[in-house]
Parts: sequence; C-alpha cells; structure tokens
Amino acid sequence: MSGKGGFELFQRRVDDLVASHPVVTSNPYTAWFEKGDLTREDVRQFAVQFSVFSNQFLVAQLKKMISADSLESMRESKEILANEIGVMYRSDRPQAGSAQLTDEEKDRMGDPDLVGTEGSVEGGTFHFRAGHFEWLLRFGEPLGLSFADMGKPKHGWPSTLYFCDELARIYGDGVGMVGMGASYAVEHWAAAGFWKQLIKGLSAFKRQQCPPLPLAFFTWHDRIEDNHAAHTSHELQEAFDRPDFNGDLYLKAAAEMLDGVKAFWWGLDGERLKRHAA
Ligand SMILES: [Fe+2]
Repeated sequence: MSGKGGFELFQRRVDDLVASHPVVTSNPYTAWFEKGDLTREDVRQFAVQFSVFSNQFLVAQLKKMISADSLESMRESKEILANEIGVMYRSDRPQAGSAQLTDEEKDRMGDPDLVGTEGSVEGGTFHFRAGHFEWLLRFGEPLGLSFADMGKPKHGWPSTLYFCDELARIYGDGVGMVGMGASYAVEHWAAAGFWKQLIKGLSAFKRQQCPPLPLAFFTWHDRIEDNHAAHTSHELQEAFDRPDFNGDLYLKAAAEMLDGVKAFWWGLDGERLKRHAA
C-alpha cells in the first residue's frame, strides 16, 4: 500500500479511528462541563489535573522528539515542544526587540491574546511568559491556586498519572512509528472540539462567578490545534512512503493512546460525580 491513493486510504483509517473513539464521541465530563453549571471547586480540580497533564506532556513530547526516525519527523516534534515551552511562531506580532514597543506591550509579550497560531518556531522568539504552563498558572491565580499547587505528579490523581505515564511510554517507545501514531491521535483528538466545550463551560463560570478568570489558555489552544494536527499529518505523509512504514504499529499506538486520554477524562468525571453526590 503506497502512493497517493494508499496514503489517503490509510489516513482515512486513522481519522476514523480517532473520530469513532469514545473520548471523541461521548466524553461525559466535557459534555457536563460545557453546560457551565460549575462550582469553584469543580474548576479548581479541573485546573490542577489539567496542569499536571500539561506539564508532563513536555516529557512525552521530548521523548518522542529524541526517538524520531528521521530529521523531518524530529523537527515536526520540535515545533510542538518548542512552542509549548514558549517559542512563539515566527509570524507573531509584535516582534520582540522592536524599539516601538511600549512598556505595557513588552510586559504583555507572550500573552496568549497576542500570540499567533500560524507559522513555524524557526526564527521565532522565546518568552518565559509564552510558555503554556505559565498561561495555566495565570488561569489558576483567581481560583486561589499558586505554582506550588499545580503541575507536579504529586498533584495528579491516579487516572491523570496513568494518562501521563501512557503518554511518556507510548511517545517514547523508541520506535518512531509508535510515537507518530500516538501523536497523530492526540493532536487530532485535540482538534476535534473538546476545547470548545471547555471554553463554553468556563465562559459561563467566569461570567457568573469569577470575572478575572483569563480564558486565553483555552481560546488559544482551540485556535492552535489545527496547526498542531497539521504537523502530525505532514509527519505521516512523509513517513508513509518510507519502506519501514508499519501501518499496524501506527494504528495500534493511536488506539492505545486514545485509551490513555480516556482514562484522564473519565477520572475527572468520576471525581465530579462523587463530589456532587456528597
Ligand atoms: Fe499547549
């Protein structure tokens, strides 16, 4: 199975696998969350678990990068990793170092409201404040969460840690095919709409209970996911015609990874059901 027709057929198989997985078709937590009937404790717990995933994702993405089978593939991984830690895409404005920037603009450098979602990290500038984890810290602030409360394995529930372990295990498998399949599944799941559900629920919560809550971490990710998903699509396209391409391994890794994602959301759902029953 090679050539353009073979590639399209294979990509359709992977896309069907993602689109029909329960984490895309029937995530009970995001379905509940988007209704916006959230307590402060609901949002705090969500923020902490999400911060653990978001931070530990860096480990998985780094493992994938160093396990890449080709330079092209390594660069696709690096694009995502560098952007996560704070390298802005080249087309971002305003440009760093520009003499025309006001102090306030300099202070806002890296603010997700200003950070673009198009282009490449090649030639892009780094800002601590553009690191996605720092955006999450700012989200946690009005909820009473500080650096000490977020992002570490000790803050994660078993279901969250299981997801993080699965990410690191599968992304870092050492066989590029496996990392690629998993990454394709994660980025295409992320592009399938759960950010919009989170934004809907959080917007209602912000309006009713917490006006200073900054939602830019979420709105920015909603905008970026097509870009990240495209990187994994390019990577697949590039890998597909290589003689060592193994479609079965790729699909197996994608399915296993989505089961890991599912554990995370179902864990959040179980805890919120317990909390609301109490
Ligand atoms: Fe991110």
